[in-house]
Amino acid sequence: MSNAHTMRQGVPVAVEGVSKSFLQGKRQTHRALNNVDLAIKAGSTVALTGPSGSGKSTLLHLIGGMERPSEGHITVGETRVDQLSVRDLTRYRRNVGFVFQKFHLLPGLTVIDNVIAPVLPRRVSFKKSARAQELLESVGLGDRALSMPHELSGGQQQRVAIARAVIGFPDLLIADEPTGSLDGATGEEIMQLLLTTSDTWGTTLVVATHNLKVAELCQQHVQLVDGAIHRTVGV
Ligand SMILES: Nc1ncnc2c1ncn2[C@@H]1O[C@H](COP(=O)(O)OP(=O)(O)O)[C@@H](O)[C@H]1O
Ligand SMILES: [Mg+2]
Repeated sequence: MSNAHTMRQGVPVAVEGVSKSFLQGKRQTHRALNNVDLAIKAGSTVALTGPSGSGKSTLLHLIGGMERPSEGHITVGETRVDQLSVRDLTRYRRNVGFVFQKFHLLPGLTVIDNVIAPVLPRRVSFKKSARAQELLESVGLGDRALSMPHELSGGQQQRVAIARAVIGFPDLLIADEPTGSLDGATGEEIMQLLLTTSDTWGTTLVVATHNLKVAELCQQHVQLVDGAIHRTVGV
């Protein structure tokens, strides 16, 4: 896969003094994140671990521009994500690839149309179907382009989801429990694929996971407890 995009380096991510509160009922607020500081180098791989409810998904959503922090700054590349307007947030999210626990493929579309879906309404500088086919080949599913999602195993569906996540050349790839619906061996294969995919396309990778084996494959390992960083290992 030699093209100019392989020279990309991903983006650095800076999370500074970030808190996120959710309203629970009329007056009660719940602090899902409490004064979190985290620095992620451009192009590096980071695992977020911690018990259920410790704030992993919330932190991914804030970095990915799906939610706004209650306090603090989030800078991704040159962008102050916490200060973007609704419209600019939508544009910012195009630059982020998402992979979810439950794949979330569109059941009525073929595999290749699922991969194309994120860029379908956009004008882009590459041939959409050719790039989708190339990505399917890179995830080992070059011969399944015309299959329907339900004809694939869970691991294969997650491979399609990874191809879909990177079709728009994102600078940042975010995965929330990407191995959570898969058996151990398949989960490790998927994690390896996420790592090689982020390396090939030059994206920074942030993965929330319960699986410590999966977390150990990342350069940096951040442990969250009760919405705060408990420990950071690596870079
Ligand atoms: N949209 C929401 N509204 C209210 N509370 C929320 C919302 N999202 C998350 N929370 C709460 O924030 C805390 C952290 O949740 P989450 O980030 O999903 O944790 P994790 O992904 O580590 O399991 C939990 O107590 C959860 O109930
Ligand atoms: Mg979660």
